[in-house]
Amino acid sequence: MSESRYGPEFWRAIWANGGAAFTAGERGQLLATHWPELEVPPECKVLVPMSGKSPDLAWLASHKFEVVGVEISPIACEAFFAEHQIAADCTAVGAFMRWRGGGVTILQGDFFDLDGTYAAALDRGALVALPPQDRRRYARHLRSLLEPGGVLLLVTVEYDPMRRSGPPFPVFPDEIRQVFPGAVERSRRPLRRARWTAVGGADAVVWAMRV
Ligand SMILES: C[S@@+](CC[C@H](N)C(=O)[O-])C[C@H]1O[C@@H](n2cnc3c(N)ncnc32)[C@H](O)[C@@H]1O
Repeated sequence: MSESRYGPEFWRAIWANGGAAFTAGERGQLLATHWPELEVPPECKVLVPMSGKSPDLAWLASHKFEVVGVEISPIACEAFFAEHQIAADCTAVGAFMRWRGGGVTILQGDFFDLDGTYAAALDRGALVALPPQDRRRYARHLRSLLEPGGVLLLVTVEYDPMRRSGPPFPVFPDEIRQVFPGAVERSRRPLRRARWTAVGGADAVVWAMRV
């Protein structure tokens, strides 16, 4: 369990205060562009760590993947299914509450308690939600959940760390190559929203890695 101020309690409070602004971020065509390049066969199990109520869950399910999100906040889980008008069933499974409906599973609990294996993972907003001291452990755990030959699509953000503090944290290529060996940069584009121009600009960077 993280002891940093950006641990599970921080995120539960964000959701309790209705402050899930990150869900409305600039998603663009990222999945449509980059996911097919990974050649993940349909029906495979795809992990979305720290999923929130991300529309990516619905996108992956609609493309016939068996998608499993992991999210600490019950508010986010409930919101995902309510917004997609899906009646979800909710059952206790080990350390998690499992929400399931419409081809999407969200395991509500701490990502660090997750086990099992997955053919692929999508990290958008997970690594960058963690402060530097928690990222190595996170990456090690995520890698351990991928099958041999499994793939990761990762989205990071880069901006001047002197201009802003708190999540999303900027994570730069040197660190990505350390924690996800073999990761290759696939694309980089400037983020245009006012919150980013206010800090001198930011880039969204897409990485792919095969275990
Ligand atoms: C920046 S948000 C990104 C959400 C989502 N991936 C998206 O693209 O909209 C980070 C999410 O991680 C969740 N989270 C933080 N720590 C977690 C943990 N230890 N286990 C599971 N979820 C966690 C938060 O509640 C929050 O929904």
